Amino acid sequence: MTGMASNNSKHDSTVFMRTQAFGSGFNDKRISKEHMKLTTIDGQQIKQAVGKWKDKPGNLIMMLHEVQGCYGYVPREVALKLSHEADVPLARIYEVITFYNYFKLQPPGKFNIAVCMGTACYLKGAPELMQELKNRLSIDEGQTTGDGMFHLDGVRCLGCCGLAPVVAVNGRVHAKVKKGDIIDILSKCKKEANS
Ligand code: FES
Repeated sequence: MTGMASNNSKHDSTVFMRTQAFGSGFNDKRISKEHMKLTTIDGQQIKQAVGKWKDKPGNLIMMLHEVQGCYGYVPREVALKLSHEADVPLARIYEVITFYNYFKLQPPGKFNIAVCMGTACYLKGAPELMQELKNRLSIDEGQTTGDGMFHLDGVRCLGCCGLAPVVAVNGRVHAKVKKGDIIDILSKCKKEANS
């Protein structure tokens, strides 16, 4: 890793953590915890992933799979290191990350909430459910609450249109959800987290 790349990544990581990673609800405790985790990256894991996949087809995707397997998402600092080690432009890395829904730019929450925005759910009120979740959690789509409890996503048809509108929490589907049900869904998650 060159000195230039290290300096840039340190700066970018700080900016990223303060402006994007934790949305409007970030707190310093979470940042320092995340920062500690990120600063333990010695580049060795990334070097190994690059060494393992560099000459194989689809290598960038496989490298990103390994990174996400380690951190649960692709932290910006890691993307910068990967760009340097693999000699791939950072823009190309983000192109791949944003193309595939599988890759995450945000740390996952304890409860990952997916609001189906497919046609059937959309017509039966999914946008209102999404708005209610955004309001109650003070985050936008694709973000995680500052305490790491909830992550919110809008997703394509979940394949159970007869139950529309649906909201899935960690893959568990809530059927025919109404705006008033959202508070109960969130309360149950909090209760589960505290039990
Ligand atoms: S559109 Fe929501 S489950 Fe199909």
